[in-house]
Amino acid sequence: MKHLLSIADLTPDLARGILDDAEQFEQTLLGREVRKLPTLRGRTVMTVFFENSTRTRVSFEIAGKWMSADVINVSASSSSVKKGESLRDTAMTLHAAGADALVVRHPASGAAHQIARWIAAEDGSSPSVINAGDGTHEHPTQALLDALTLRQRLGGIEGRRVVIVGDILHSRVARSNALLLSMLGAEVVLVAPRTLLPVGVDEWPVTVSHSLDAELPGADAVVMLRVQAERMNGGFFPSAREYSIRYGLNERRLAALPDHAVVLHPGPMLRGMEIASAVADSPRAAVLDQVTNGVHVRMAVLFRLLAASDEPGVAL
Ligand code: CP
Repeated sequence: MKHLLSIADLTPDLARGILDDAEQFEQTLLGREVRKLPTLRGRTVMTVFFENSTRTRVSFEIAGKWMSADVINVSASSSSVKKGESLRDTAMTLHAAGADALVVRHPASGAAHQIARWIAAEDGSSPSVINAGDGTHEHPTQALLDALTLRQRLGGIEGRRVVIVGDILHSRVARSNALLLSMLGAEVVLVAPRTLLPVGVDEWPVTVSHSLDAELPGADAVVMLRVQAERMNGGFFPSAREYSIRYGLNERRLAALPDHAVVLHPGPMLRGMEIASAVADSPRAAVLDQVTNGVHVRMAVLFRLLAASDEPGVAL
């Protein structure tokens, strides 16, 4: 694997191997006073974020540092992008400066793919590109950390029914999760109002429902999504209040889930909108486990791209 741009870059064995490696990294570091492995010593990882982030940027930085990589964070707001430099010139500059991996978040769908193409055209020994979220398209490392969290909480993914709820239209998490979880044998159900479903969703490996209440009793997991007002140009239908009533996960709905079912949210959460505080803070919610798993999954991805072969389950 040269890049991780979308779930299509993975096979089921490769995805499972990354999850196995992530767990092995977690075990290796568990209880250590000094969390430092020599795995990526001498390698340079650059995070390049053109959109805000807390979890993804921080966890890539920690992941790189715990494996002894040099990690450089480039924020678009304090870079020469602000002076009008193009995405291509920015990427080529970071390539020339010595990046071994570029971790890219950008509001345009396809931006990470385009950077990988530009870089490859210039030099065969180009950096690996990791898509850390491109517009409404994909967020593959989020899907991997969600898969790891589900595997740990449910004991496996195959045959499990995962219900993804909310603003599917603008969610790169929903697409990557639907593709990865179905690849790993889960049954994926999308629950959303018609206005928040993308054109072409009938080609995704999912079923679609408009009733959250109907889907809860049969769910092994629910993934609640944030309503992405920043991508809606001021318009949002249904209204926030109606949305919360019909699609919000509150305590009454939590009680309708089977006892073993788990609640995920990629964050950031809008408490009181798509998820009630009592649900977000309950033991049924795995939100902070997702964050912790995000560090180990990103260690595993950096390891695959910069230090390992594509053999599944490579020992560390
Ligand atoms: N889940 C996620 O991508 O969160 P951030 O936007 O904080 O990185």
